[in-house]
Amino acid sequence: MKQIIGGNWKMNGSRLAALEFLSEMKRLGSGSVSSEIVLFPPFTLISLMADAAADAGIETGGQDIFWLEKGAFTGEISPAMLVDAGASWFLVGHSERRHVIGETDDIVRRKLEAGLETGLRGILCVGELIEERDAGRTEEVVRRQVESALKGLECVSTENFVIAYEPVWAIGTGLTATPGEAERMHSLIREWVAGAISIDFADNTRIQYGGSVKPDNAAEILSRPSVNGALVGGASLKAKSFMDILKAVPPQD
Ligand code: PGA
Repeated sequence: MKQIIGGNWKMNGSRLAALEFLSEMKRLGSGSVSSEIVLFPPFTLISLMADAAADAGIETGGQDIFWLEKGAFTGEISPAMLVDAGASWFLVGHSERRHVIGETDDIVRRKLEAGLETGLRGILCVGELIEERDAGRTEEVVRRQVESALKGLECVSTENFVIAYEPVWAIGTGLTATPGEAERMHSLIREWVAGAISIDFADNTRIQYGGSVKPDNAAEILSRPSVNGALVGGASLKAKSFMDILKAVPPQD
């Protein structure tokens, strides 16, 4: 399975920084790495970056989408608008959307469905808060997030869909799940995906790990058999550290 490394810039970046980042990525060899690379800049940079990114072997995506096609929804971006801007991917269910903005499982599901139906490829983020982990509720919470997004979803395929397991307490904190913990959760997520869709689908679905992935821990995380890539926040803002993570991907079949 080809690994997929995502770079989530969140609310960071400028036109100048974006173009410099891409030319640096190209110079450092992003076009010849073995994994798939997807960058999620803020909406304002997607159309500027899409062509130059493709040239550097990188796909672009939106950090969020709305579930309707058009109309009176101030501030929202439709899946078709993302396509028009040159994006081929979207993120949905990121913990900052769930817990800072207040998105529910139902909203995440609608967004996922709308994005996939429009022909975009989507990454569904799931993960537990520290309070949920401390209360022994990690499995219950992540299972609910996976099942509410996937059960009965028709437009999903192993080509257009990826899951990112991101324990919320590991995002931006410098803490990471141990490789063993990540592997255990990835195996459980695969079981829940199998229950929601099918065993064959689950066996071929890529599951990324996210939360403080950095050049110095990437090799250990990415070499675990049940980990099929990473979703990187802070360390994706600099071409050098993002490339170092890409270079840590083990040889793939
Ligand atoms: P981080 O963010 O790598 O800065 O922890 C990861 C994410 O939010 O996807």
